[in-house]
Amino acid sequence: MTMQEIIAHKRDNQPLTTAEIARFVQGVASGTVPDYQAAALLMAIYLRGMDRRETIDLTLAMARSGTQLDLHDIVPYVVDKHSSGGVGDKTTLVVLPLVAACGVPVGKMSGRGLGSSGGTLDKMESIRGWSCDLTLPQFRAQLAEVGLVLAGQTAQLAPADGKLYALRDVTATVASMPLIAASIMSKKLAAGADGIVLDVKVGSGAFMPTVPEARKLAQIMVAIGSDAGRDMVALLSDMNQPLGHAVGNALEVQEALASLRGAGPAGFWAHCLDVAAHMVVLAGQAATLDQARQKLLAARDSGRALAKFRQMVAAQGGDVAQVDNPALLPQAALVERVNAPQAGYVAALDTGALGWAAVHLGAGRAVKGEAIDHAVGLVMPVKVGDWLPAGAELATIHANDPARLAAARQAILAAITWSAEPVSPLPHIYETITGATNG
Ligand code: URA
Repeated sequence: MTMQEIIAHKRDNQPLTTAEIARFVQGVASGTVPDYQAAALLMAIYLRGMDRRETIDLTLAMARSGTQLDLHDIVPYVVDKHSSGGVGDKTTLVVLPLVAACGVPVGKMSGRGLGSSGGTLDKMESIRGWSCDLTLPQFRAQLAEVGLVLAGQTAQLAPADGKLYALRDVTATVASMPLIAASIMSKKLAAGADGIVLDVKVGSGAFMPTVPEARKLAQIMVAIGSDAGRDMVALLSDMNQPLGHAVGNALEVQEALASLRGAGPAGFWAHCLDVAAHMVVLAGQAATLDQARQKLLAARDSGRALAKFRQMVAAQGGDVAQVDNPALLPQAALVERVNAPQAGYVAALDTGALGWAAVHLGAGRAVKGEAIDHAVGLVMPVKVGDWLPAGAELATIHANDPARLAAARQAILAAITWSAEPVSPLPHIYETITGATNG
C-alpha cells in the first residue's frame, strides 16, 4: 500500500485500517514518509476526523514507534500530567517540582509550542544550557536520583509524535481531536507513567472551545489510558483567559519561579494545586485532595519544591543562577505598557488571539524548527469580570522589534470585549473525569 493510497482513503472519508495507520506511523518514525505526504494525511485527518478505533490504533502505533519505558525497577509508581494546550500554561513547571518534593517520582515527556499554545520545552530552554535531550539511561538515572525528570521526544521515545507534532504546529492541523488524543497519550504510554492527570483545556484559547468537545477528548484519552492499565484523571479546566499573567517563554519561567516562591498569581496557583493534588492522591501519598493540598503547600512553603526544580535544572545542564535570580533570564529590549482605552468590565478575552500575538512577537514558530525568541511575550494581569478605569494597565508587551510590538498592541486591544454591566468571573474547573469510560 502506498502513502498516496492511504492519503486518498482519508481524503475520501474512508476509515483507515490498522495496517494503514501502522504503515504511516512507522514511515514517519523511520523517515521514509516525507513531510509533504505526512502533512497531506494530517490535513485529511484534520478535515475528516477519525473514529474511536482509528484513534486508538493511531495512539498505540505512535506509542510503539519507539521504546516503551518500564520504570518499575527504579520506582514503584510514577505519576505524570499533561495539558491539552493553552495560553500561558506553565502549570508543569510548578506542579512537577511540587509533587516530586512530596516524594512522588515524576517522569514526564513534554512538547514544544503548538499553534497558539506555548510548549514546556521551549519555556524551559529559556534557562541557559538546559537540555531536554536525554537518553533513556539518563532519563532512568535522573528519575532514580532526583525523582524528577522532564524530557522531550527522542529517536527512542515516541519519535513519531516528535515529528508529527512539529509538522502540525506549522500546517494548521493542531486542533484535531484524534491528533491531540494520539499525540498526548502516545507520549504518556511510552514514558511509562502509572498514574496520569490530564489537564484538558476548554475555551477560546484551547484547541477544544466547548465543554462537550473537551469532554469527548478527555473521555477517549481516559479510555485509552485505562485500557493500557494506567490510573487516569482528566480535569476540564478553563482556557477563556490566559492562565496566570505571563505569556511567552522566559516570562512564564519567571512567573513559575515566583509561584514556587509563593508569590505567583492566585488563580494560577489554585490551578497548580488542583492538578498536583490529583497526582499526589493517584500516587497514594494522600487519602483526599485536601490532605494532598496541605502536603503540597508545605512543600512550597518550606522551599523544597523550588529546591527540587533547581535540582532538575542542574541535572539537565541548566544554569541554576537563573533559577536563583530570574532577572538573569532573557530580557526583551522593548517593554511597553498597554492601557485600557475605556472604563468597563472585561466581558471576554479572545485568548487564542493573545496566544498568536505572543507567537508573532517571536515566542512561537512560523516554520518547522525555527529558532524562537525566549525573551518576548506579554504580561496581562486582567481577568474576565474585572472592572477597569480608563487608562488602567491592560498588559505589558515585551518585544525585540518595534513593528511586532505595534502589532501585538493592536491584537491585545482587539482581543478584549467590554461590558458596562458586571460580568461573573470564570470558573476554574468544569468537570473531573476518572477511570474507565465508554467515551
Ligand atoms: N499536547 C500534546 O502533546 N499534543 C497535542 O496535540 C496537544 C497538546
